[in-house]
Amino acid sequence: MVKRIDEVMPSIAFGGDYNPEQWDENVWLEDAKLMQEAGVNLVSVAIFSWSVLEREEGKFDFSWLDRVLDILHEHGVGVSLATATASPPAWLSKEYPEVLAVQENGVPYQIGSRQHYSPNSKRFRYAVKQLVKEMANRYKNHPALKMWHINNEYGCHLAECYSDESLSAFREWLKNRYQTIENLNQKWGTNFWSQRYNEWDEIQFPVNLPTFYNPSQKLDYKRFMNDAIFDLYKIEKEVLREITPDIPVFTNFMYEFKPLNYFGWAKEMDLVTWDSYPDPREGKPYRHAMHHDLMRSLKNGQPFYLMEQVTSHVNWRDINLTKKPGEMRLWSYSTVARGGDGVMYFQWRQGKAGAEKFHGAMVPHSNDPNSRVYQEVKQLGNELKQLNGLAGARGTAKVAIVFDWENWWAVEHEGKPHNRLSYLDQVYQYYRSFYEKNIAVDFVEPNGNLADYQFVVAPMLYMIRDGEENNFEQFVKNGGTLIVSFFSGIVDEQDHIHLGGYPAPLRSLLGLTVEEFAPMADDEINTIVANGEKFTVDTWADIIKLEEAKAIATYKENWYQDKPAVTIHRYGQGSSIYVGTNPSDEYLDQLISGILQQLEVRAPLEAPKNVEIVERVANDKTFLFILNHNNDPVTVALEEGTVYQDCLQGKQVTQSITVQNTDVAILVC
Ligand code: GLA
Ligand code: GLA
Repeated sequence: MVKRIDEVMPSIAFGGDYNPEQWDENVWLEDAKLMQEAGVNLVSVAIFSWSVLEREEGKFDFSWLDRVLDILHEHGVGVSLATATASPPAWLSKEYPEVLAVQENGVPYQIGSRQHYSPNSKRFRYAVKQLVKEMANRYKNHPALKMWHINNEYGCHLAECYSDESLSAFREWLKNRYQTIENLNQKWGTNFWSQRYNEWDEIQFPVNLPTFYNPSQKLDYKRFMNDAIFDLYKIEKEVLREITPDIPVFTNFMYEFKPLNYFGWAKEMDLVTWDSYPDPREGKPYRHAMHHDLMRSLKNGQPFYLMEQVTSHVNWRDINLTKKPGEMRLWSYSTVARGGDGVMYFQWRQGKAGAEKFHGAMVPHSNDPNSRVYQEVKQLGNELKQLNGLAGARGTAKVAIVFDWENWWAVEHEGKPHNRLSYLDQVYQYYRSFYEKNIAVDFVEPNGNLADYQFVVAPMLYMIRDGEENNFEQFVKNGGTLIVSFFSGIVDEQDHIHLGGYPAPLRSLLGLTVEEFAPMADDEINTIVANGEKFTVDTWADIIKLEEAKAIATYKENWYQDKPAVTIHRYGQGSSIYVGTNPSDEYLDQLISGILQQLEVRAPLEAPKNVEIVERVANDKTFLFILNHNNDPVTVALEEGTVYQDCLQGKQVTQSITVQNTDVAILVC
């Protein structure tokens, strides 16, 4: 049986990507000593090592990796061992050119960078399997092996392939899904623009077209590529499970990543891990927090690992701004607060050669143990060791936001009433409001379990598959409060309209019909009036006909003035609220605060602005994180009569606590 992550790593994991093959052997021992000093207990090894492990087809050289693993083990550093399949070697594509992925224009990608493989290439899949078998057999009993890191950031550089082999695979995938060509014709609506197919081999990729593509076909291409890349992962997983049935396996996700349906992937992973590179001066801290919350939610609240972040600055933006002193530490604690049981970096030692040599690392080019960067790493690594009993602790959310990858794909396809709608922006907009109030949020799929929540928000849920409305109805009937926002419930899983008045599957729950959409021009705004107060709205106005619902805000201007913009419908024991426009933050804050107050859902503590407060609960204790993102110290009042243990300062606190600028307190009670 596969071991639990907190069995394998009983404390918070700390370390990073380690690429010893880029260095002379004499550096390895120095690395291990520095790692020990910095509190490193886990490193990811061999992610990009294929060409130095399998020098020629079937000729393996593991001698150097044996030595690396031995040295790490001797220094108490565990290994998250990569399967080394992320960047295939030159000999493979020379011998078998069909392993190369092909661009939209028919030109194959070339070697010389990374991730140039076609996920659908049978030859590539075979080569992957051979390598993974060798790796697993070689290291199955090595005491340093803690977990398997499969491939690396699947789809990161290319998540589409237009090779002949991919086309055959696409047709096979469609046959499997639709069984008959007639069924496919119906499901794709091919009587439109004379798109009927008689034979499977008439079907092409939805690219290189004179005008608009068929949206059902495009949606299926996205599903197909997600599945193809996922199959590649599962091929590796299967080999590893067979040879090392007790070792956890995963791949590392990214967040703002549309092509892969991570909710589906997470079911096949023993641990969710992801890589986070927020722009330090982006000024939208809620985005970073939301990514953590989404990652924690992918496996029903199971803690995740942050597999990569940077100590200072990346090298792949136009201008690569550096995290200020203390920020890396503070943001790492935000990760931990939101369910991170691992804090890792790309990478351990800053590279000497190659495209990433200016990317920050735990040990900078100077190799100076007194450098700011290494000192901050060392401080954090040694602090994390003190957080006993935290690994495995869970979040406490009573609020959930619905998130759906296929909806994301479909709603951003061309040909809509408004073609600059961003699904993520809609989700962020609602999330921000909760974040700034320090209200914990989980993410759920539309058919996910809503029973544990009091308040659910479904932003722009354009696609509702058959029966998914029942989940929302049940939730509200049982006393839940639901917000649905504009352009929801419009299409089915084929991206065909739900007829019978928008949003047909949600009409009885919301108690209304949307008669028309009135998108707004870029520079256009309107005003809504709610309880006598005025708020700005933009982007979109639904023209709503009330049925059982009541208006709680109405438009002030334009031809639809006085018509409802926001509505409420008492349904069963609960309420469903419909927001038929894109309101200002002020309005959303007011709406959401009112609901939270009614539901008695509160932040763990009252706090000044830019102070993040998050709770994690273990069996017998609660960890309370107070993260001060301000440039000045803040004082936060604690719960009357409670005695807290300050984990980092090692002392007791009561009444209130002062947290310095860019600093954190972790209290246990
Ligand atoms: C053109 C075409 C029609 C239709 C409209 C849509 O006029 O001839 O088939 O696509 O555009 O505006
Ligand atoms: C990704 C990759 C790493 C490295 C970093 C650089 O996360 O997984 O190999 O390229 O980006 O930021």
